[in-house]
Amino acid sequence: MSARVQQVVPDLVEAIRDVMKKHDVTFQDYGAAMQFLINVQETGELPVLVDAFFNATVVDIENATRKGTKADIQGPYYLGADAYNVVTDKLPHRPEDAGAPDMIIRGRITDLDGNPIAGATLDMWHSTPDGLYSGIHDNIDPKFYRGRVITGADGSYSVSSKLPVPYQIPNSGPTGLLLEKYLERHSWRPAHIHFWARADGQRDVVNQAYFEGGDWVGDDCCDTDHLDLVVPELIENGVRVMEVNFALEPAVAMAAE
Ligand SMILES: [Fe+2]
Repeated sequence: MSARVQQVVPDLVEAIRDVMKKHDVTFQDYGAAMQFLINVQETGELPVLVDAFFNATVVDIENATRKGTKADIQGPYYLGADAYNVVTDKLPHRPEDAGAPDMIIRGRITDLDGNPIAGATLDMWHSTPDGLYSGIHDNIDPKFYRGRVITGADGSYSVSSKLPVPYQIPNSGPTGLLLEKYLERHSWRPAHIHFWARADGQRDVVNQAYFEGGDWVGDDCCDTDHLDLVVPELIENGVRVMEVNFALEPAVAMAAE
């Protein structure tokens, strides 16, 4: 790690110095930036700030070596593997969401040649129909809108749930101030479903699926505009169906690159 630090940090510092010189940064600018970072630290928003600007870049770098399904940002709301130890074909929803629109998520997990992978594990999590995450917001029981499926012999899976909606990343603190007031950007993410696909001997894929035609698709505040992960609209019996397939590549191939 020390060698990595020596490799990256001097370039990082030099890049920041170049920007300072380019824009003739004054002591007043410098003080304002310092105060902003202090505010970020004091509000505990460091992960939000860093993720909003840089997480998608790490994903892009990782994807350059991927031959199979592309990765996307994991986001901060996974909760750890313990939240997914119930295998289900129906993600639990809050009683008050009974009338919310239904959704079916289905697809196949295969290897790069299209051969089905039986017994692959797929963890899913997504927002409530009002844009909140269980276990994170408003004391919502963490069992809701989270679950795990295991693929069958043909590599297929299918699970029902309720449609998620677009939501705003936390915007009442310094990150929101920077995004919305000073940069005149927004803090919205398009509606999405998070996935973590795993199978023995294969490289994990953590990604998200987006809804074709949805608000903010292609204009995500977190710059995760992986349009290859936008799922075409399919309605069956009035229910939105999300066909999400995964092609996993061998873990060994990744390590060798
Ligand atoms: Fe999310």
